[in-house]
Amino acid sequence: MRKQPGWALPNLKEAQKRTKNEVLIEKSIFQISPEMKQLGVGRNYYLRTYGCQANERDGETIAGILEALQFTQVDTPEQADFILLNTCAVRKNAEDKVLGELGSLKRLRKNNPDLLFGMCGCMAQEEEIVNTLLEKYPHVDLIFGTHNIHRLPELLYQAMMSREKTIEVFSKEGEIIENLPVKRFGSHKAWVNIMYGCDKFCTYCIVPYTRGKERSRSMEDILDEIRSLKQENYKEVTLLGQNVNSYGKDLQLEGGFARLLEEVAKIGMERIRFTTSHPWDFTDEMVDIIAKYDNIMPFIHLPVQSGDNDILKTMGRRYTIEEYKQLFDKINQKVKNCAFSTDIIVGFPNETEEQFQRTLDIVDYCQYDNAFTFIYSPREGTPAARMEDNVPFEVKQERLARLNEKANYYAHLKNENYRGKIVKVIVDGPSKKNKDVFSGYTETNKLVNFTAQDVVAGDIIMVEITDVKTWSLNGIQVKK
Ligand code: SAH
Ligand code: SF4
Ligand code: F3S
Repeated sequence: MRKQPGWALPNLKEAQKRTKNEVLIEKSIFQISPEMKQLGVGRNYYLRTYGCQANERDGETIAGILEALQFTQVDTPEQADFILLNTCAVRKNAEDKVLGELGSLKRLRKNNPDLLFGMCGCMAQEEEIVNTLLEKYPHVDLIFGTHNIHRLPELLYQAMMSREKTIEVFSKEGEIIENLPVKRFGSHKAWVNIMYGCDKFCTYCIVPYTRGKERSRSMEDILDEIRSLKQENYKEVTLLGQNVNSYGKDLQLEGGFARLLEEVAKIGMERIRFTTSHPWDFTDEMVDIIAKYDNIMPFIHLPVQSGDNDILKTMGRRYTIEEYKQLFDKINQKVKNCAFSTDIIVGFPNETEEQFQRTLDIVDYCQYDNAFTFIYSPREGTPAARMEDNVPFEVKQERLARLNEKANYYAHLKNENYRGKIVKVIVDGPSKKNKDVFSGYTETNKLVNFTAQDVVAGDIIMVEITDVKTWSLNGIQVKK
């Protein structure tokens, strides 16, 4: 990689290392110096975020910073003076989408020579990608990573004023910064980070490299944020972490995630969700707390990845399928009417037809409400990417199709249970086509399209389900 003065480039080997250094919590590190305060006056930005909810939440911070610099957000890249793609690296097709978009947006420079292009997020943390950008996408002016979002004002100032390519990606995480601005994209639902990073190192996964070591926010900071959200009339919070169940381990916090969840429930927010739960450290206490509080939603995303013990072991998932089933049954027994979703990877290196059959078996066993299914995608620098693989791609595609057929069957079957029932729905807003049709979500996270009068986003109302589809329900509002 070509080095330039002032550049900091990513290094996956560095990113893999874990230190025992204490993570500091910074309450005042983020500042905008006086010469930058006007940087965005009269300038528009277009921000597009890919990937998981953690990245969505980062997008809200980035938007908050840009608006503190007085930039104005626009909905189309054509109107923008600064285009920023906040990217995901989890699978190759996620990356290809971004690179395709970057290529096609380049044309906009013709009409606007001052247009600035930026890339941030997980792809920026990858050496291979930054090399590709340098070689094939020279129009990208600014690259920064997941660990230095707080440096955006300085980096942007440099890129805009010097018109020199600006690259700053840190391979290692730094402090937890508590005073970053945020522009929340939802008016009644909010994302709340409870921790950053991941230490699980599942052998196929790039996230522990792009997001650094597991760091928990302090319980008080999280609770304060949720109390303010409640005051601002938010109705739903989703607690975010790559693995929320390990919340507090790095702080030696007694009670861990179960205790945090209980404290959040007591604040009295109408709806509390959390994602993602790794089955490995899902404790009995957590199940009891979820069962005990009505405002903790009966919906669990419980990624299984595979139904075969040897594959699970090679993936480094740290549970057997028997343990997974036990946990699933326990939650099902204790949490009334609980809905489940999952993530599944097919075509992990050398997966046999028999092993794949066991994945189909676990889907039959759990009958998930929703399954996110993926073909294994080798990620450079991960252990699985170094494994030989004897499964042809066509076989993987055919397995994915069979899996999806089964998963869709259960998604529809689960929805059938709602026909004729009256359920609580949080209103998201009117549909674009018809102002009398609204959409919203049940407690179990099912999308409902319904007719209603005199409702606004954030209302929680009763809806009778009149029809069901595989991915959504239809209904009508029932007046109290
Ligand atoms: N922290 C979350 C997962 C984040 S990534 C968890 O552990 O549940 C979301 C999903 O993407 C994973 O659950 C996995 O199913 C899938 N995934 C991750 N890496 C992948 C890869 N290399 N190829 C295909 N799918 C992958
Ligand atoms: Fe990736 Fe595993 Fe961490 Fe989830 S738990 S982010 S799949 S390494
Ligand atoms: Fe993607 Fe990074 Fe999230 S790789 S899934 S955006 S943590």
